[in-house]
Amino acid sequence: MIVARTVADLRARVAARRRPDTTVGVVPTMGALHDGHLELVRRARADCDVVVLTVFVNPAQFDDAADLAAYPRTEERDLELARRAGVDVAFVPPVAEVYPAGFTATVALRGPLVETFEGATRGSGHFTGVTTVVAKLFGMVGADRAYFGRKDAQQLRVIQAMVADLDLDVEVVPVTTVREADGLALSSRNVRLTADDRTRSVALSRGLSAAAAALADGERDAAALLRIAGAPLDAAGIRPDYLAVVDERTFLPVDRLERPALLLVAAPLGAVRLIDNVLLSAP
Ligand code: PAF
Repeated sequence: MIVARTVADLRARVAARRRPDTTVGVVPTMGALHDGHLELVRRARADCDVVVLTVFVNPAQFDDAADLAAYPRTEERDLELARRAGVDVAFVPPVAEVYPAGFTATVALRGPLVETFEGATRGSGHFTGVTTVVAKLFGMVGADRAYFGRKDAQQLRVIQAMVADLDLDVEVVPVTTVREADGLALSSRNVRLTADDRTRSVALSRGLSAAAAALADGERDAAALLRIAGAPLDAAGIRPDYLAVVDERTFLPVDRLERPALLLVAAPLGAVRLIDNVLLSAP
């Protein structure tokens, strides 16, 4: 595995591996790799000839300096995991390589998709930070396919919308959320949960599963599904930032489950903010 730290080196390394029919896949990450990231790499490895993993803690998508400072940075371990997972090129740029002096561009979407839920809670700049860096990473790597986890459902949808709006020639591949045995969705932030909050955290996935089970039993009313999903949170003393049933494309709230929708949850547990979701698809 090659580690590239500049765009020029990255491009040279990818070019050296590219043949006329070669497929290049990119897995963008902020490091602190866990099995959820490795699942993205496994998918990319199975689909693509060349796999590029990017590790960059993107300051532009953090509205909170303390959250940025606390974000786990485990480069040596990340590179070892990436190497073992079969990554060809790891791109680990310093901040000045991605945002050099004089950098002024932004890629910004407008509307409810970026202004609600994570956009509302984390500030209007959050998704602009994500779309700007992801557009740059697509341009730097020259990827044919890009792999993103379904756990960050709104981010996934925002990136799909950006790719469509800008006619980017990249196929966005969604990958299923990887969970701990008790249901907690894997996240780089989980390592910062206290033992007590780790125990309480299971309420999020329990609520989602209970709502999905109720849907399977015939419940179609979004308010009823929200009450069911909220009960384990109440019992654990967790006050969610949001708990909502939304259209999976627009992220606008839905009242009745006439077609597949997403049940979204985000909640602070101590200093850590967890998000999760489930696709509610009536049988
Ligand atoms: O999901 C993440 O880790 C980040 O938001 C991403 C997509 C790598 C952009 O910085």
